[in-house]
Amino acid sequence: MDFEFSDNLKNVKSSEIRDLLKYIRLPGMISFGGGMPNPESFPSKEIKNILDDIIDNHSSSALQYGETDGLIYLRDELKNYLLKDENMHVNPDNMIITTGSQQALYALSKIFANPNDYVITEAPTYVGMLSSLNANSVRSVSVNMDSDGMIIEDLESKLKMLKSMGIKPKFIYTIPTFQNPAGYTMTLDRRKHLLELAYQYGIPVIEDNPYGDLRYSGSKLPALKSLDTNDIVTYLGTFSKVMAPGLRTGFTVSQPEVIHRFNMLKQSLDLTGDSLSQYIAYEYLKRGIIYDQIPKTINIYRRKRDIMLESLDDNMENAEWSRPDGGMFLWLKLNGKIDSSKMLKRAIDNKVAYVTGSAFYYNNPEINTMRLNFTYSQDDEIKEGIKRLAKTVNDEMKSY
Ligand SMILES: Cc1ncc(COP(=O)(O)O)c(C=O)c1O
Repeated sequence: MDFEFSDNLKNVKSSEIRDLLKYIRLPGMISFGGGMPNPESFPSKEIKNILDDIIDNHSSSALQYGETDGLIYLRDELKNYLLKDENMHVNPDNMIITTGSQQALYALSKIFANPNDYVITEAPTYVGMLSSLNANSVRSVSVNMDSDGMIIEDLESKLKMLKSMGIKPKFIYTIPTFQNPAGYTMTLDRRKHLLELAYQYGIPVIEDNPYGDLRYSGSKLPALKSLDTNDIVTYLGTFSKVMAPGLRTGFTVSQPEVIHRFNMLKQSLDLTGDSLSQYIAYEYLKRGIIYDQIPKTINIYRRKRDIMLESLDDNMENAEWSRPDGGMFLWLKLNGKIDSSKMLKRAIDNKVAYVTGSAFYYNNPEINTMRLNFTYSQDDEIKEGIKRLAKTVNDEMKSY
């Protein structure tokens, strides 16, 4: 029998990153493609101790269904953490624990926008946001970026253009710190300016901040949420990069009406997040393990970032790249003649993989770009992988 499917997923494309996995498993392949934290950074021993205690002392609630908004002890600890870490004053009632921050991207797309509505995203932007928008049939207008983050003049001109067409975008989505995929960080001036424009046009802002704690150089900048005097910023955090992504635990802070709607939607998505993971995250914060773990992770990733940048400096021609102060990715722009999608086959033949930049654009991709992850590979693999990539680029250039 042929099934008749709904139109709901007609705009959703399979992720190029997931598709890449089949190459990554080929023997000898060095992949800069995935976005995965390094297992070396996982606090396995600490989690084992916590888990033993939870099973011994709290199994009746940790193995039970929980509240839809999430474990109140965890939300209380997050309140303290956000105050200490981000100088953010948060009421735990204005927070919902999510199944990773990915769930929040899906939920917020649905909560704020109707099918065919417009939102604003950065170009390039996080591919998981693009899938959430597509799954909800929401359209996007893209704002260009440079190494100082979203270009505010471009944002302003896009807002004006939309207004002249009678269109009010439903939100502005930004990853202001160590952006995925580009590794760029928005300057303080631009952060303030973005908020002013959002106030002026009356548009909510979604600030996605999975990488903010992973800073390897430069000084910390305030989150948009902590600068927001009008309560229009919805803030997304996650334990994926500072504990372990497999626990699928994140959090969203917003106005009560947003949290209320999120709660109703979450009841249809998964009733409640994973109680056991929430207990682990709670103990992880309460025992202060996170404050030891972040510097350990930073040390590993800073070294890997430096190795990748040095290897690029030593080997790569016909390209320029971002020099991120944190996070997990850098963004490489090849000579304008090269299409990184077309080059991927040559790269795979040379046993090196990357994600083609076009995966990160809602439309009009810059086809000569790629994202490189520097956190996952072993140190010597990074050196060797960049040599292979440089050779791939040189050979590709000769073919033009
Ligand atoms: C910018 C951004 N947002 C959200 C996510 C989703 O993270 P998680 O669902 O693991 O919290 C990621 C993951 O890589 C990301 O890079």
